[in-house]
Amino acid sequence: MASQPQTLTIRRPDDWHVHLRDGAMLQAVAPWTGRQFARAIVMPNLSPPVTSVAMAAAYRARILAALPEDARFTPLMTCYLTDHTDPAEVVRGFEQGAWAACKLYPAHATTNSAHGVTSVAHIRPVLDAMQRAGMPLLIHGEVTDPAIDIFDREAVFVERVLAPLLIDYPALKIVLEHITTAEAASFVAAGPATLAATITPQHLHLDRNALFAGGIRPHAYCLPVLKRARHRDAVRTAATSGSPKFFLGTDSAPHLIEAKETGCGCAGIFNAPFALESYLTVFEEEGALDRFEAFASEHGARFYGLPLNEGTVTVTRGGADVPERIGAVVPFHAGERLTWRLA
Ligand code: DOR
Ligand code: ZN
Repeated sequence: MASQPQTLTIRRPDDWHVHLRDGAMLQAVAPWTGRQFARAIVMPNLSPPVTSVAMAAAYRARILAALPEDARFTPLMTCYLTDHTDPAEVVRGFEQGAWAACKLYPAHATTNSAHGVTSVAHIRPVLDAMQRAGMPLLIHGEVTDPAIDIFDREAVFVERVLAPLLIDYPALKIVLEHITTAEAASFVAAGPATLAATITPQHLHLDRNALFAGGIRPHAYCLPVLKRARHRDAVRTAATSGSPKFFLGTDSAPHLIEAKETGCGCAGIFNAPFALESYLTVFEEEGALDRFEAFASEHGARFYGLPLNEGTVTVTRGGADVPERIGAVVPFHAGERLTWRLA
């Protein structure tokens, strides 16, 4: 057996999908992301959502104010699409650097998506403008039709919505966010170079049994919901394949303990504090440690057309003990010891 590396040094990574929230929660969680990543694509599903250039600029300033003085972290903002989004505002914000992408939430698909898009038909002028400007479209890829089984909503979205979108917008850069199924993984892998996907740590580690292990487990509940083991394994294969179409996006989505442990709990897993350590466990299990740097630090930047980060981070085989609680939030892997530790 080849000897195990004791340390790993990689180019500084980016998180291409994170929820930093606002107010007290922003103060509590932003430093964790700032410690692990050089940049992050910040989701706009606040209440009210980030729908204008002015709102994005104000939110960006609040994020920077929540970080320590010496943080070397750049938030990349996103525009929340609604049925009424103005194409000119979207392109103006992109061209002046106020935001890096637009996020498409199908209305009522997830947390704070009530103002989301009810039909792609309503945003065609926006998509035309984005395609012309070279601005990426980030998609929460689930249909919301209550007649569709919740475990099938991503696969049905790929077939009914995403496949036609690629035909209608052949030059539009599209990121299918937080993929969870074999169908999504193979569709993205086989798709054009304009199509990519982010992958979360939880969808690499867990299958849907984790939701019901000895009782109902609200801290394993996120959207898209965990799927069968064979889907998790397909997502693991995609992440560790070396394909430039797959890159790191934690979907870290903190909710207060009382909002998770209740009769109708919120979807979301807070994985930011030990995100790199969590991904590394999977890459090591898959014998793909040598592919982690590209997944974490290269593929996303290249897809977005942004420069790679300068500088490096080092992880050691020191072991990281994940606490049961971080403030008022239960983190992913609570109470576990992870093999790797960010130096
Ligand atoms: O689990 C999730 N939580 N999935 C989402 O799509 C949204 C996120 C949140 O904002 O809480
Ligand atoms: Zn998300």
